[in-house]
Amino acid sequence: MDKSRTQLAAPAAHGVGIELIELTKQYAGQRAPAVDKVSMRIAPGEMVMFLGPSGCGKTTTMKMINRLIEPTSGQILIGGDDVLRLDPSELRRRIGYVIQQIGLFPHMTIAENIGLVPRLLGWSKSRIAERIGELLDLVGLDPSVYRDRYPRQLSGGQQQRVGVARALAADPPVMLMDEPFGATDPITREHLQNEFKRLQQELRKTIIFVTHDFDEAVRLGDRIAVLRERSEIAQFDTPEKILAAPADDYVASFVGSAAAIRRMGLTSVADALRVVRLGPVSTPAHGITVELESSIRDAIDAMLRAGRTQVDVRAADGTLAGSLAFDQVCELWARAQAGEPDVR
Ligand SMILES: Nc1ncnc2c1ncn2[C@@H]1O[C@H](COP(=O)(O)OP(=O)(O)O)[C@@H](O)[C@H]1O
Ligand SMILES: [Mg+2]
Repeated sequence: MDKSRTQLAAPAAHGVGIELIELTKQYAGQRAPAVDKVSMRIAPGEMVMFLGPSGCGKTTTMKMINRLIEPTSGQILIGGDDVLRLDPSELRRRIGYVIQQIGLFPHMTIAENIGLVPRLLGWSKSRIAERIGELLDLVGLDPSVYRDRYPRQLSGGQQQRVGVARALAADPPVMLMDEPFGATDPITREHLQNEFKRLQQELRKTIIFVTHDFDEAVRLGDRIAVLRERSEIAQFDTPEKILAAPADDYVASFVGSAAAIRRMGLTSVADALRVVRLGPVSTPAHGITVELESSIRDAIDAMLRAGRTQVDVRAADGTLAGSLAFDQVCELWARAQAGEPDVR
């Protein structure tokens, strides 16, 4: 990681840390709390990844920090101030929020979507217009092209960029990002991750970023909080330390399956033919094909996107070599996880 550049670019004005003190949420009618006495400190300008399974309380925690959900007990400090005592406009100034389902308003233009919070904060029209142009440039969308379009006229990846621009609109020192790139395909996701990483090196916001993708956590995080049920922190450390020394079996299972996924990304269908035999080409052909040189991970993605359990495999000369079934991928997966050398 390029830490030297990062530190040079750190603007002093954004030095706002976050502290959670025994933060707890007990939803009415639920047996156990969704979030149970979570305490952590996040340094100014630090990007912390919350990594944990669905239902472990990540969104609840984010929404408490943002005051969309009232904590049952505990405290949240932002820049040393108790969030529960901030007035709503001060809260909007301090915290930008990007949610999983993008959340752009379909009947508003891109410019209107991005200008939402500045408008609430009472900025002048000219200042808002200027800021919108600046932000569209920042996230790599030409303002003259995209300003007046509607969300439905943009691709998923472009909409996510607008989501990020909107959260940055009032230049908040803190950003909460709840699986912001979760809904995009793997290639778009990687683009967005790389762009966002570059952006963060310039902006040095204090960020909590929720993900259930270990690779994303490793790629983006200064530190990763591996969470289990009720947001209990299983390990909170740098990606390097977590990879090198997982605290327990639970953390190791994230690291382990991520390593297997990485291996699947490095294993081509052609490599896999040393272990499995392709079946006959699907009849009728489904039109879902991958190349022999595609990775197994690409093959899985193609199946998931098409909702099929089989893909046809095309050889370099354009002919169909056979089909790869989901069951075969599972077999490869099991072997890769067991660390079998011929499945890399
Ligand atoms: N409004 C709600 N009322 C009752 N239970 C809820 C509510 N929202 C979430 N929960 C429960 O709290 C737990 C944590 O949910 P959530 O914070 O959404 O998890 P995550 O974002 O990690 O998937 C889950 O068991 C969920 O069912
Ligand atoms: Mg969630």
